[in-house]
Amino acid sequence: MQDNLINVAYIIAAILFIMGIKMLGSASTAVRGNRISSFGMLLAVIVTLLRSGLDYKFIILGLIVGGIIGLIAAKKVQMTGMPELVALFNGFGGLASLLVGWSEFEKSLEFNWFLYLVVSIAILIGGVTFSGSIIAYLKLSGKIGGNAVIFPFQKFINLLIMAGAIIIGLLLVLDANIIDNSILVWVLIGLAVLVGILGVIPIGGGDMPVVIALLNSFSGLGAAAAGFVITNTVLVVAGCLVGASGLILSIIMCKAMNRSLANVLFGGFGSTNNSTTAEVDGEMKALSVEDSYYVLEAAQSVVFVPGYGMAVAQAQHVVKELAEILEKNGAEVRHAVHPVAGRMPGHMNVLLAEADVPYEQLCEMEEVNSVMPTIDVAIIIGANDVVNPAAIEDENSPIYGMPIINAHQAKSVFVLKRGQGAGYSGIINTLFFRENCRMIYGDAKATISSIVSQFDD
Ligand code: TAP
Repeated sequence: MQDNLINVAYIIAAILFIMGIKMLGSASTAVRGNRISSFGMLLAVIVTLLRSGLDYKFIILGLIVGGIIGLIAAKKVQMTGMPELVALFNGFGGLASLLVGWSEFEKSLEFNWFLYLVVSIAILIGGVTFSGSIIAYLKLSGKIGGNAVIFPFQKFINLLIMAGAIIIGLLLVLDANIIDNSILVWVLIGLAVLVGILGVIPIGGGDMPVVIALLNSFSGLGAAAAGFVITNTVLVVAGCLVGASGLILSIIMCKAMNRSLANVLFGGFGSTNNSTTAEVDGEMKALSVEDSYYVLEAAQSVVFVPGYGMAVAQAQHVVKELAEILEKNGAEVRHAVHPVAGRMPGHMNVLLAEADVPYEQLCEMEEVNSVMPTIDVAIIIGANDVVNPAAIEDENSPIYGMPIINAHQAKSVFVLKRGQGAGYSGIINTLFFRENCRMIYGDAKATISSIVSQFDD
């Protein structure tokens, strides 16, 4: 293939990536944005393979095999398992960068400082991303414990290993020849993998979504470095886009939890069983579905607050059904989405969009909080931490400072959950003990279906 044609195809691919990412910013254009970016990637992959002179039969074969694996993974994995899948995919991205860097080093016939520099960066970032992502996957899937693993001098040891990896990289770039370069590369791979493992084990399961976004950013930077190694412009562009967007996403999540990135990475949050230090007055009061129906029947304004439990129960479709009934009944309905509700960014938006909940009913946290005292009923569907008033009232609470949806300010609050257990952070929710709060126990989907049938009768 001609060089000019290749470059034009790469520019088109880069434009498609950027257009697609821009469209991901709104729920109404996100699906189209995803397709446009994927098409850009397909174009980039095909052109790159044709440039390398590969027989098109192999390209088709690769597309079929890769497509089938992707299709099975996407169909099989539940929405609640998506963060694990993303972690795994990030890991493979990191491994690919490591392998590209390594193989180009093995292929190089003579010393070239720039090549050795980008190879070292690709191996270091790729190795960290690979092992860190695998640990994140194992924690999220429950294959290993989700608690933060802390040991003495941990930060110092991590720093030492990281410094060791950087020194090895420098020895390679300077062609110091103290030890054979091939051995140095092996050591660099080992240290990079170790940094990834030791960097992620001290982070608790609750913070894994931030870690995954950060590792996603790393996988992008690793790919960009690999792009320099094999002088592939589109890989550099795509890598930088992933690197920047992953970092921005991590920062947005940290802001939504009112924590710094450093606190997430080095704070050891989740190393012990957290519990609120405040004494909780009162008791949890249960409510029957029948009684909840009478209150909802008379409600003029209702806010649904979805959380992780809605994803577990797959209750989004019945939520939409109940919302329609309440609207027909004359109530104003809103769905209040907290930025870190669920287990991944946009988790609730995806589920509500899947159920075709109208976008105009979706409300951001600040917007809904300003009208919360006027709301007749707030229905909490499997949300817990994101509505815990301890975050704004109990200075000793581990989640103090995290912005929440002020559901406790509504005239009545119904909490739909299966039992009396705490949320993901393990902290007791003081909302459940309030005078205006009633617990409707059971699986959220079953509970809402029963309320819907009360309206039907
Ligand atoms: P959580 O605090 O995890 O609470 C989920 C609740 O759902 C639990 O109390 C559980 O109670 C209930 N539940 C589970 N299955 C259910 C079912 N089938 N039916 C009804 N209820 C069910 O959820 P949240 O409020 O969405 O908060 C998210 C947490 O993740 C926060 O701590 C947040 O900081 C953390 N986090 C999220 C992100 C992102 S990006 N989303 C990033 C970092 C951290 P029962 O067991 O009693 O049913």
